[in-house]
Amino acid sequence: MLNVALPKGRLGEKVYAMFEKAGKECPSIRETNRKLIFESEENGVRYFWVKPSDVAIYVERGAADIGVAGKDILLEYNPDIYELLDLDIGKCRMCVAGKKDFYDDRERVLRVATKFPHIAREYYAQQSREIDIIKLNGSIEIAPILGLSDVIVDIVETGTTLLENDLQPLETIFPISARLISNKVSFKFKHGEIEELRARLGEICRK
Ligand code: PRP
Repeated sequence: MLNVALPKGRLGEKVYAMFEKAGKECPSIRETNRKLIFESEENGVRYFWVKPSDVAIYVERGAADIGVAGKDILLEYNPDIYELLDLDIGKCRMCVAGKKDFYDDRERVLRVATKFPHIAREYYAQQSREIDIIKLNGSIEIAPILGLSDVIVDIVETGTTLLENDLQPLETIFPISARLISNKVSFKFKHGEIEELRARLGEICRK
């Protein structure tokens, strides 16, 4: 039985569709209810819906053998897992954004609001820039508008959230996409199964 942590939400639906095509169908998952665990004995798979930012924790600690997590989460938390495949979905980018009239006074400490303090710290450390991190958990775009921060470091997908809040992207830090990840011990003991799935998913991505 392969235990798979799926990111709850829109990305998770796409990921499950790919796993289904790869032969890991589990019909009960399509039923609309509040259940979080689904199993197909026939296909040897058990799926869990977890918060996207928690997938890597389940996989790192072996509660799931494999899972799908965004590159943003992997770079922020640096979990001890194997990254097996770029699934080429969930594409967006990590950006610095600010108000349209933002002027960068390099003499001053830059106040940065973000859900990704590690990524933001590393990015500005490379530029030897002194910053003050303001860790938030969501609706980051509000911070510069209310004067809580000078800029934000956040995910931009369509750019609509920035646009509708009169902000603009200033710099791209890195591109993001969803990655297939594996627990290190599972990769050893369920090697055949995981490798076969990786190969099938790889083919599906290339189509
Ligand atoms: C993410 C991100 C931006 C938004 C970007 O937020 O933090 O706010 O999506 O998408 P867009 O460029 O297509 O507008 P999320 O939906 O995860 O909610 P959050 O406010 O809880 O972070």
